[in-house]
Amino acid sequence: MSEFPIQRMRRLRMNPAVRRLVQQTHLRPSNFIMPLFVRSGEGIRQPISSMPGQFQLSVDQLLQETQKADSLGVGGVILFGIPNSKDPEGAVASHDNGIVQEAIRAIKSDTPNLLVITDLCFCEYTDHGHCGILTESNGQVTVDNDLTLPGLGAQAVSHVQAGADLIAPSGMMDGMVGAIRSALDGGGFQDTPIMSYAAKYSSAYYGPFRDAAESAPHSGDRKTYQMDPASAAAQALREVELDLQEGADMIMVKPALAYLDIITRVNQTFPGVPLAAYNVSGEYSMIKAAAASGWLDEQQVVMETMTAIRRAGAEIILTYWAMELAEQLSSC
Ligand code: PBG
Ligand code: ZN
Repeated sequence: MSEFPIQRMRRLRMNPAVRRLVQQTHLRPSNFIMPLFVRSGEGIRQPISSMPGQFQLSVDQLLQETQKADSLGVGGVILFGIPNSKDPEGAVASHDNGIVQEAIRAIKSDTPNLLVITDLCFCEYTDHGHCGILTESNGQVTVDNDLTLPGLGAQAVSHVQAGADLIAPSGMMDGMVGAIRSALDGGGFQDTPIMSYAAKYSSAYYGPFRDAAESAPHSGDRKTYQMDPASAAAQALREVELDLQEGADMIMVKPALAYLDIITRVNQTFPGVPLAAYNVSGEYSMIKAAAASGWLDEQQVVMETMTAIRRAGAEIILTYWAMELAEQLSSC
């Protein structure tokens, strides 16, 4: 093929109309899922200092956000609960009158068509802040994988009984998807899908979230269950493959920006599986901080970031900007 001056790449960049015509990556409000933090009380809208613009909300305040999400056409909301009491096993996580269960019922009676997803884990409910039940072996305290599984099943059933549309287990326990699938099927909920946090890395980018959800581990870290960022991409593919075998309907990669290669590999290897990416709290707060200093344009950087995650291969993005993005996209 003849090269320059016959081929001129700039021809298709000459004006907005032609750029729009040949644009290959598109974002819609329904691509985005809004994470929301709910706690008990009334009239509570407690700012999260490490996540400017995000709040811990009581149910009445939460409904203002979910109404907005519904009318903006966002893909859904994902709920995180801050319970009143914690214990070593996180028992309140599966209580019918727990904070998440209460929130689901309130949202479903207010905006029945809004997709309600629940993050399914124990770290918000255990007094030690780990994602499961602790055990000690050879002087080392660690999360007991198999002891944790039944509780995950019970928590899933209680979320679905309250009205949740989709369950998203985030604890990185081996066999968690299978345990949840069989608990749901046993409860008559064989039609409720599971979106697995399949490739979830042990990441320092979760820092601000742990303030928001009051879920930081009191000692140690999550490295015995979350993935090592230094592991090869093929390990993520094994995690995804196992979750699919256990019955996962959708897959998530988390965090997003430092793991775009993983998003691409998962998408190329499992092209028929809906793929989500979580643009996590640290990714949010970094841009917020830079924008607050006047160092970059928040709106433009956010759109570019979401485009990159979408282009890498994730069609669904969990992001604290979901509402703003939906607003921006529906006005252009
Ligand atoms: C719970 C959970 C975490 C996040 C989502 N679900 C934190 C963690 O694993 O410690 C992080 C989300 C974010 O940083 O925005 N397991
Ligand atoms: Zn957890």
